[in-house]
Amino acid sequence: MLTKKPWRLGTRAKLLLRGLRYARILPYASIDGWLTVDEAITLFELARSLPDENPRAIEIGSWQGKSTVCIAQGLKDKPGAVLTCIDPFDASGDRESEDTYGNHAERAGGPLRRAFEANLEHADVRPLVDVRQGFSHELTDDVDAPIDLLFLDGDHSYDAVRRDFEDWAPKIRAGGLLAMHDVVHPVHEGPRRVVEERIVGDSQWVEPRYVDSMFVARRAGN
Ligand SMILES: C[S@@+](CC[C@H](N)C(=O)[O-])C[C@H]1O[C@@H](n2cnc3c(N)ncnc32)[C@H](O)[C@@H]1O
Repeated sequence: MLTKKPWRLGTRAKLLLRGLRYARILPYASIDGWLTVDEAITLFELARSLPDENPRAIEIGSWQGKSTVCIAQGLKDKPGAVLTCIDPFDASGDRESEDTYGNHAERAGGPLRRAFEANLEHADVRPLVDVRQGFSHELTDDVDAPIDLLFLDGDHSYDAVRRDFEDWAPKIRAGGLLAMHDVVHPVHEGPRRVVEERIVGDSQWVEPRYVDSMFVARRAGN
């Protein structure tokens, strides 16, 4: 006997129901990765809110470019915009993630860096993306402050998230934005602990909010 599958609204339809302006991030829906529709929209809107000229954003943990495309589309109309993406592109990560990354990487049909580049080309955002292949803690000195937006989604272990926060958050200018992924997660406790221990309750960070599993805050100041 045939059993009926429950009817579900696809990612593209969900996105367009939020407004036609989000058609720009439609390519995100076909890229492998972990980002809900509301998280994708949030990254796009955060990027759009950055200064109109020469905004600088950093993404730690790009995988195949799902979140990259959302941020880059938000920056695209701004002259001089640069999004620096840091990832080893070798499917490595914290102990809880490595099996998942390995399984997904097999399905990528080739090297992750190639899939990432192809996804950016397809979304027409490659020119504004500056790719740094490597681990975030090795590249701290390669990227100058100040930056307008930092998105942390790399190694999710507590020690690594704490180190990323300590290394990279000081580069955010006063009034700039921090977004962190997987802060509400059944397995990863690193991002949640860092948010609770280092950000919530610190007057340096204002306007904290959660969007699904993403945390966003603004650095106090102009
Ligand atoms: C959860 S995935 C990122 C997902 C991506 N933001 C998206 O929207 O699909 C984490 C990525 O960070 C990478 N990574 C792990 N450790 C890292 C580190 N120390 N520095 C930078 N990237 C790292 C992993 O290999 C993986 O590509």
